[in-house]
Amino acid sequence: FQPKVLKGKRVLVTAGPTFEALDPIRGITNHSSGKMGFAIARAAREAGADVTVVAGPVHLQTPRGVTRVDVKSARQMLDATLAGTANADVFIATAAVADWRPATESDQKIKKDGSGVAPTLSFTENPDILATVAKSDRAKTGRLFCVGFAAESHDLENNAQAKRARKGIPLLVGNIGPTTFGKDDNEMILVDANGVQALPRASKISLARQLVREIAKRNP
Ligand code: C5P
Repeated sequence: FQPKVLKGKRVLVTAGPTFEALDPIRGITNHSSGKMGFAIARAAREAGADVTVVAGPVHLQTPRGVTRVDVKSARQMLDATLAGTANADVFIATAAVADWRPATESDQKIKKDGSGVAPTLSFTENPDILATVAKSDRAKTGRLFCVGFAAESHDLENNAQAKRARKGIPLLVGNIGPTTFGKDDNEMILVDANGVQALPRASKISLARQLVREIAKRNP
């Protein structure tokens, strides 16, 4: 049994990878499983919140009672997130959004032309969903509490604190990536204006429940 610490709150979570199409057959993606985001969606629902998960392509069951919006690309994820956060109280960005997308999407399959010359791909930067939402009026006036994630390979605490400032958000969760991808457990640090708090290695659902309690404390 979980205490209903988020009762009456609307929570939006982004989860999983994005898929950036090159042509109708191919695209660029990453190994994010979406497990952490889905665990957080489940934990927020257990805590009594009205929860939407905006999911990139993942192979996961929707947690009971959670509304799911499926998207592919970062731009679709941004649109769904902006729509969903317009009246949300908490936004938790766990998605592993592609930083770049192919500059053009071919409407036909890109074929070998027999010349033996490989095609050159060029890229365009994707929108930063979390930073965009954090700049919204609702976030800036404290009605929307934004939480980010950071997977760092080293110097977790300093990098996490720097990322929190750069994104302009009150709370950032750091973990040592990419070792957590696809796993059922994780370990985290929470960084906010007061400093750092460690959440030792545990299952993703246990960490999600702890995170939900920490978010609730900051959103009475
Ligand atoms: O800058 P970096 O990708 O390391 O930041 C990670 C955090 O920002 C995560 O919370 C991720 O979901 C979010 N993010 C985003 N849109 C992007 C890139 C990252 O929402 N384009």
